[in-house]
Amino acid sequence: MSDSPISDPAAILRHGVDPDRLRGLIERERAAYSARRPRSAALAAEARAHWFDGVPLHWMSDWGLPFPLFLGSAQGSTLIDADGIEHVDFCLGDTGAMFGHSPPPVVRAVAEQAARGLTAMLPSTLVPEVGRLLAERFGLPVWQATLSASDANRAVIRWARALTGRPDILVFNGAYHGMVDDVHVRLGPEGPRLRPGLMGQVYDVRRHTRVVEFNDVPALEAALSDRQVALVLAEPVMTNIGMVLPEPGMHEALRRVTREAGTLLAIDETHTISTGPGGYTRAHGLDPDFFVLGKPVAGGIPAAVYGFTREVAKGMAAARAADPGYSGLGTTLSANALAFAAMRATLAEVMTDAAYAHMTDLAAELAEGLRAVIRGANLPWCVTAVGARVEFMLAPAPPRTGGEAGRIGEPAIEGAIRLALLNRGLVVTPFHGMMLVAPTTTRQDVDRLLAGSAEVVAEIA
Ligand SMILES: Cc1ncc(COP(=O)(O)O)c(C=O)c1O
Repeated sequence: MSDSPISDPAAILRHGVDPDRLRGLIERERAAYSARRPRSAALAAEARAHWFDGVPLHWMSDWGLPFPLFLGSAQGSTLIDADGIEHVDFCLGDTGAMFGHSPPPVVRAVAEQAARGLTAMLPSTLVPEVGRLLAERFGLPVWQATLSASDANRAVIRWARALTGRPDILVFNGAYHGMVDDVHVRLGPEGPRLRPGLMGQVYDVRRHTRVVEFNDVPALEAALSDRQVALVLAEPVMTNIGMVLPEPGMHEALRRVTREAGTLLAIDETHTISTGPGGYTRAHGLDPDFFVLGKPVAGGIPAAVYGFTREVAKGMAAARAADPGYSGLGTTLSANALAFAAMRATLAEVMTDAAYAHMTDLAAELAEGLRAVIRGANLPWCVTAVGARVEFMLAPAPPRTGGEAGRIGEPAIEGAIRLALLNRGLVVTPFHGMMLVAPTTTRQDVDRLLAGSAEVVAEIA
């Protein structure tokens, strides 16, 4: 398991951090983590017998901890580990539990539905209502459901190719849209290349995937000009390489250029649903052809949805009629009754305007507080935020492109901060320095995170 080794002390220094003090902090915090968690240590040793990497999803060993933190229970913003240690959770399952762990309306709906059938490959009675809730909230009139955002994005790519008859797609450099082979292309100095670290990839996806930098409208225009691109798949704010915000006019240009080229536009709101009740799309008046949302849409029960315009729906129907038979799109458990019960409860009772007002106000306070911590320690770092989603970045100013963002991170520093915060009862994501504020997060929780951050930063700056 990674222990965030300090491979390049000069890089650490450039970020305003003393490598020796960082090394000292990592050693102390690793020892403290292990000493306080005998039960997680024992479970980790036992799990290694039958789980690859000792975990059921190998990402779970990517936190840079001496051994994985095993979950005891979680409720609201509180996460109790297997050793009974209580934490305030700002990771929230990397957005899967963005509205707090086990929201009571979802728990009730799941319990009721669980006694009445879990999956039948038939539409449940809640289907009409959930469709109306999605259409009213996000503005797209027609929907389909999947089990994960990865599935939804794969489906959108396939539909877009089918209905335009074009082979290619375009993504922005540094994008991540899930376990979707087509999108794992990065822009290198010599042009597009497969994303480093990809395993088992035998098709060269660069044949049909183009990649340009976010905020580079001329490059986008050039890449779409031959009218071979079926779809641009984009997050409205890039969130998976550190946050990259759209510059003024970027989204207007993206919509104009895609329309001119006859290219469909999919906005993936799986993370940016942190913006507000209708996501970034509603908050900023975007007008996509497809809209994708996964992770928290069913309050933590696996489910995702994709919406589209009536015109796209017509094209989908025509594409299907032209060649009836096996579509290759869909999975057996998609749109199961349990997921729909959870989704109805989440949309109607959890993702409320009041919940968002609380989340976004408190997140703004967190962002301001972190900026003050950074200023206080005189560090060349910055903070970015999109609604309830806040991130510290090890650069003096927010990046403009995914390429710039990719050069910012320093795993040794980020990993050490994460570990030290965890030992102070504060969970942040294992990706960049990302934190989420839930409807259940309190001002005291935020104050605790700010105090913990100030303490940790003072030890290494
Ligand atoms: C923007 C975006 N889309 C899609 C996904 C895929 O979600 P899942 O892993 O739940 O399929 C992710 C995952 O992080 C994501 O960040």
